[in-house]
Amino acid sequence: MALPDAPLIRALRGDRPATTPIWFMRQAGRSLPEYRELRVGTQMLDACLTPYLAAEITLQPVRRHGVDAGIFFSDIVVPVLLAGLDVEIVPGRGPVFADPIRTADDVARVTSVSPQLVAEKSEPIREAVRLAVAELEQSGKPLIGFAGAPFTLAAYMVEGGPSKEHLRARAMMHADPDSWHRLASWLSEVSATFLGAQVEAGASAVQLFDSWAGSLAPADYREFVAPHSQRALAGITDVPRIHFGVGTGPILADMTLGGTADAVGVDWRLPLDEAAAIVGPDITVQGNIDPAMLQAPWDVLEAHVRDVVARGKSARAHVVNLGHGVPPETDPTVLTRIVELVHSI
Ligand code: CP3
Repeated sequence: MALPDAPLIRALRGDRPATTPIWFMRQAGRSLPEYRELRVGTQMLDACLTPYLAAEITLQPVRRHGVDAGIFFSDIVVPVLLAGLDVEIVPGRGPVFADPIRTADDVARVTSVSPQLVAEKSEPIREAVRLAVAELEQSGKPLIGFAGAPFTLAAYMVEGGPSKEHLRARAMMHADPDSWHRLASWLSEVSATFLGAQVEAGASAVQLFDSWAGSLAPADYREFVAPHSQRALAGITDVPRIHFGVGTGPILADMTLGGTADAVGVDWRLPLDEAAAIVGPDITVQGNIDPAMLQAPWDVLEAHVRDVVARGKSARAHVVNLGHGVPPETDPTVLTRIVELVHSI
């Protein structure tokens, strides 16, 4: 569904609709009691592959908060799970791979699987998207599809699990650049396939999450990562494309991927007027409420949100969001209040 008049889609295309659109990364999930209730007895990745559950969890925060879009409930590791990798999500920790991808042989084995397999196995994903879109379209709200970018996915796969500095993935770039490029290139096709399945089933925008891109030196980002991320997004031409990472101030211009992205996500470290000056007049900015501020007294949080909206005026257009995901301990009534505030400004 294209939904060209929805505020989110207009802002991503460069317009300034009457109300500034807002959604939250990780708006679905543990901050919502209705999510915790629905997830009892079901593993995270099983929930992702059960269409009515994935659709229902996608819709919960839209109904509750009145945000301007749903973000498809899934996870960045779902497409590599569909490609046959042994991965689970350990609660409180994150994705853990049974067999980390460390050597040239590991990379050769993993990349011998055709990304086409992901397309074939994505029927539960397409079905969940269709179910979510059927309800969202009644209120004219878009669904945002997403995928993990090659570097962030590789950061988990090479390490075998979450890591602070993603040293093993960054080391592979320099120790065995051929294997790195082979792995990242394969991941770009896998992510593109996963995004394509969601768009085919009705998603009206996509976001590529390169959450950990900020851990890279700019020169390494340009040489080892940006071309692969660009390929992951380049095939998605019918809907607007958002590119997000944390701590990306030094590489923000590169994050536009030469114009392949319509919008870049900005975390809380970089004021949006500075971000707008970096990315220029052809890119929408998305962000950047500090998740830590969600714990602050309302008057402090309100002043922060107003400041974010005011600074966003420097960009060609602005989609309000957090600088990273909703922390699980967030009081959801605070999120609803932020949506009402942003819509009233
Ligand atoms: O509401 C949404 O934003 C949509 C759903 C979504 C999830 N994961 C659901 C999820 C999205 C967009 C993601 C992407 C994702 N997954 C990223 C990129 C975004 C980011 O936060 O930077 C990353 C790095 C992952 C990997 C991952 N998956 C982590 C680090 C975790 C947290 C582990 C934990 O328990 O703290 C997950 C699990 C996960 N993905 C949960 C949810 C709702 C929590 C699962 C649960 O309820 O136990």
